[in-house]
Amino acid sequence: MALSDKGLSGRVALVTGASRGIGRAIAVALGRRGAKVIINYASREDAAREAAAAVEAAGGSAAIAAFDVANSAAVTDAIKALGKEHGGLDILVNNAGVAVNGLLMRFSDEQWQKTMTTNLAGAFHTTRAAATLLLRAKEHGRIINITSVVGEMGNGGQAAYAASKAGLIGLTMSTARELASRGITCNAIAPGFIETDMTAEHLPEAQRAKLLEQIPLGKIGRAEDVGDAAAFLAGPEAAYITGQVLRVNGGLLM
Ligand SMILES: NC(=O)c1ccc[n+]([C@@H]2O[C@H](COP(=O)([O-])OP(=O)(O)OC[C@H]3O[C@@H](n4cnc5c(N)ncnc54)[C@H](OP(=O)(O)O)[C@@H]3O)[C@@H](O)[C@H]2O)c1
Repeated sequence: MALSDKGLSGRVALVTGASRGIGRAIAVALGRRGAKVIINYASREDAAREAAAAVEAAGGSAAIAAFDVANSAAVTDAIKALGKEHGGLDILVNNAGVAVNGLLMRFSDEQWQKTMTTNLAGAFHTTRAAATLLLRAKEHGRIINITSVVGEMGNGGQAAYAASKAGLIGLTMSTARELASRGITCNAIAPGFIETDMTAEHLPEAQRAKLLEQIPLGKIGRAEDVGDAAAFLAGPEAAYITGQVLRVNGGLLM
């Protein structure tokens, strides 16, 4: 069941990679709780506009912002401008990510860099750029990093991806410690396997059947399952939770 009260009304949220998949579902869930949601995307403006319409249909307000989280200077400029335009920032969700898969022995430096700069450095860039704005939000300030079950258990063919997601957990705990004295919380959500474009591309049918056998709840998750977890962590109910990894994985890892 979706959290539906308006516990986030008056809050401004930035969700990276929110044009599709999990990021979009997080944006909608925050919108449902009354937040103004800024939908960041890399290239798919059509999808970002459609996500913004979904946030508004859910009861929130929305804006879109294109920037590449891997580009440090672009992130700094964009977040500064967004803070001015929207009168601050209370919630940052670092969701943008790429899955570049391949066996370790054949993995190129370029593939490694692409994974790390998007998934791990991307979250560092946005968090650093947003920190001043979040400090002004005081005890409403929330950072939520979308890591992955494979960041805690590894996965053959995903060494770089898993390393980037494990790194994100370290970033989460350090950020939580640094900002706790100002009442700001920083947590991670570690989804298991969730039905999105990413899994459609990287999870072939044969592997899917094997995977289902390992998931106690017996099904692949929905993006909305992660959206609801984020809407909880972003709200007043989660004010005393920081530095944690919330697993949304059907029991795949426990
Ligand atoms: N799906 C899963 O099973 C699963 C499980 C665990 C964790 N996760 C994590 O959850 C997050 C979302 O995954 P998803 O499955 O929803 O992925 P997805 O369907 O592939 O969507 C990726 C989103 O990220 C955006 N994006 C990609 N690179 C970007 C960049 N450099 N700068 C800004 N935005 C960028 C895309 O924007 P455009 O539309 O403009 O391309 C899109 O909105 C990722 O961090 C992923 O690692 C996913």
